[in-house]
Amino acid sequence: MELCGTTGLRGTVSVPGDKSISHRCVMFGSIAEGTTEIHNFLPGADCLATISCFQSLGIDIEQTGSTVKVHGKGLHGLSAPARTLDVGNSGTTTRLLSGILAGQPFESRLSGDESLNSRPMKRIIDPLTQMGANISSEPGNGCAPLLIGPSPLHGIRYNSPVASAQVKSCVLLAGLYADGETSVTEPGLSRNHTELMLREFGADVRTIHEPSSSGATAVIRPCEQLYGQKVTVPGDISSAAYFIAAGLIVPDSEIHITNVGINPTRAGIIKVCRDMGAQIELSGERTEGGEKIADITVRTSRLHGTVIEGDIIPALIDEIPVIAVMAAVADGTTVIRDAAELKVKETDRIATVTDNLRAMGCRVSPAADGMIIEGGRLKGASIRTHLDHRIAMAFSIAALAAEGTTKISDSRCVDVSYPTFYDTLKALV
Ligand code: S3P
Repeated sequence: MELCGTTGLRGTVSVPGDKSISHRCVMFGSIAEGTTEIHNFLPGADCLATISCFQSLGIDIEQTGSTVKVHGKGLHGLSAPARTLDVGNSGTTTRLLSGILAGQPFESRLSGDESLNSRPMKRIIDPLTQMGANISSEPGNGCAPLLIGPSPLHGIRYNSPVASAQVKSCVLLAGLYADGETSVTEPGLSRNHTELMLREFGADVRTIHEPSSSGATAVIRPCEQLYGQKVTVPGDISSAAYFIAAGLIVPDSEIHITNVGINPTRAGIIKVCRDMGAQIELSGERTEGGEKIADITVRTSRLHGTVIEGDIIPALIDEIPVIAVMAAVADGTTVIRDAAELKVKETDRIATVTDNLRAMGCRVSPAADGMIIEGGRLKGASIRTHLDHRIAMAFSIAALAAEGTTKISDSRCVDVSYPTFYDTLKALV
């Protein structure tokens, strides 16, 4: 994909459904009684991998574009898969599905692509093993392929060393199949879609979060049954982030983004934009299915550097590549710290962000848990995505604010979370 520096992005964008929520409604619908009807589902490769895994587990799922019907078979209705479950590039599929599979009376094997099979799975193997699960890393290095066999599960109190919604959700889902209450305490509050949606499906789950302390605890009790729901998935703030950034950093722009999920555990980017001096407005705020939604308007703004650290990190972890791009054209220095989790995403995003920013002429230094970015001007360059969808999209926005032409390698990797990204972008340019 080749993109040139430009001006005057104007228009209204509606981003596809939230990736995290799309995964969860297919998963919870599969283990609920009755039909779950999903609207505005994200038909990206990651969520399609979740559908295909549950089809292999015997669930009848009809998907036409962004409409999905899941004919659930209840908590004990999954059947043994005939072959390896292919989780593709999706960490969410792998970690949440493992929690469900740990409670099943059959064996399964999960494997994904090269990136997925090199990401850390010890973070779920450890708590599941504490619960009594029979789960192991086939290569023995704490990574997938994962082998999961039948074993009775016990409720535990798990103290997670990382603020990770995937770890928390994995343990809570296994908790549905345990013999007593299970709790997960994390050092910071990670996205809470599992807790919100499981409650809608009838589970007994609650969150204890004192605003005065950074930690949070989610508690679940095993239940008899979940019940199929009608779910309308809000637009994905992680996808909206690219158009928020584009509207702010491309000269003479004004972009409206409709129907965006602004769950506080996800909306850190809005606060950071405001801290950087952005003109960003929220309107039409409403709540659907426990999730907050709003329309967002951004206008070209003179941004300045900021410090991004601490509790806000989990609420913007996936947006850091595009926040780094905004920082690269802002006045002054931006410091990002407490974000070592970036290293274990689809790529090591400390390396892939800083290498590509440097290629565009930015003065940036990587750190063990983040990066320091000196704002200035960007010039066109050859961007290496390493097949990471968020690197492709973040640097496509950088390209629009840079002088000259930028070439993005393997740009189709955006299909993982936003297959229509380039169509939407081109309609604005
Ligand atoms: C996700 C949680 C986050 C996020 C990922 C989606 C989820 O990962 O980065 O894109 O749907 O639960 P971690 O739980 O590893 O932080």
